[in-house]
Amino acid sequence: MTSSMPSLFTPEYYQNQYKAFAWLRENSPIHEFRFPVGDIRTWIVSRFDDVQAVLADPRFSNFAPTHGSSEFKESGMILGADTVVSRIMTVLDPPDHTRIRKLAMGSFTPRRTAQWREPTERVVQAELDRLEKQESPDAVAYASAIPAAVMGEILGIPLSQYNEMLDAIERAFHPDDNKDSAQRAFEEIADYGRTLIIEKRSMLGDDLMSSFIEARDGDERFNEDELVAMLALMIMAGLDTTRNLIGSSILALFDHPDQRRLLPKWPEIQATAVEEFLRYEGALCVGVFRFAKEDMDFRGTKLPAGAPVVAALQSANRDPDRFTDPDRLDLTRSGPRHLGLGHGLHNCLGAALARLEAQIAIPAIFERFPDLSLAVPRDEVTYAENWLLRGLVSLPVDLGASRSHRAGG
Ligand code: HEM
Repeated sequence: MTSSMPSLFTPEYYQNQYKAFAWLRENSPIHEFRFPVGDIRTWIVSRFDDVQAVLADPRFSNFAPTHGSSEFKESGMILGADTVVSRIMTVLDPPDHTRIRKLAMGSFTPRRTAQWREPTERVVQAELDRLEKQESPDAVAYASAIPAAVMGEILGIPLSQYNEMLDAIERAFHPDDNKDSAQRAFEEIADYGRTLIIEKRSMLGDDLMSSFIEARDGDERFNEDELVAMLALMIMAGLDTTRNLIGSSILALFDHPDQRRLLPKWPEIQATAVEEFLRYEGALCVGVFRFAKEDMDFRGTKLPAGAPVVAALQSANRDPDRFTDPDRLDLTRSGPRHLGLGHGLHNCLGAALARLEAQIAIPAIFERFPDLSLAVPRDEVTYAENWLLRGLVSLPVDLGASRSHRAGG
């Protein structure tokens, strides 16, 4: 145990948040601090049981425009304010959330998920070919390209329009100058979405977008704005997350040669291995926000109405009270479930796709390049300073000889 609290959201924190999480779990499991974006009074919950309890407690809301503190609302932290993006499913509470989630779930059937395997395998092989031709190969570029291409294919959107949408989403989350540019980007997302939906309606197919358009629950359907929001949400929730998982997992295998040696047994271990990658590093920097709907006592701590609470999923996933030797990567780990894909009403809708992409993309790069290694010293590998997502900036790799070359191909 360290005596003083390591700082949160500092450059050092972003490279290794787990030190701060360990301190919090031990010394201040429901901890008040100032969230750096907007300098907002916030609480962070770090123990597994408490994090799970936050996510299951109906006294907490996801909907900041109604339930967030005034500080939070004024900080510019509200996603896509005044556009359809501000009503994506992740930020809604029941009953709005219940209706939208039920409609969307109909598009994520086991039959449809099974159909995504072939395009995912095809995309992965194409990206490996591309990586092989690169002068300075970067495993993060590989990890980024896969979810972007897979999502475009399974949504069934023409590539040029999809790329414009990606570009607008990039600008919405990384505004170069001011809040207005993010606002404009959110408006563009809504405009692209509307155009895409009109075009898609005239050529419905067996893809995800068509399935959303046709989604029905009795007389209920998505309205136009809800369709746009679903489209934007798929792209926002499904790209950087999966990219981060794939990138960090490749690095984790470099860091754990004993676990890398298990890869030839992939078909036997893939189910536990993917869960372990989600637990060990996952895709998020810390976790998700909730807001106290009323003045409350949460497990002995008084929270005022509006209190923003960070449910620290990544800390919960390293809680030694829940996981044996939690800082060790163990691809054969069985036992308690992790929280990397959330918990409760809002648990990840794209979990099956995330698992499928990881299951195919992570072993494939080691299979194609058996001598794959880091091309830079380990301490030059850094994580981006992003409070929401934990993603490597880049992962330069030395490919060695590819399996096809070795085989004389
Ligand atoms: C490694 C990849 C992924 C991780 C770690 C991840 C993680 C999460 C987490 C933690 C939540 C809960 C949010 C909350 O409680 O506030 C969530 C929700 C969600 N995720 Fe994922 N996700 C991943 C990939 C995907 C993909 C590929 C898609 C799209 C196909 C997707 C779509 C969604 C949606 C729509 C929700 C909102 C569900 C709701 O509010 O009911 N995610 N995800």
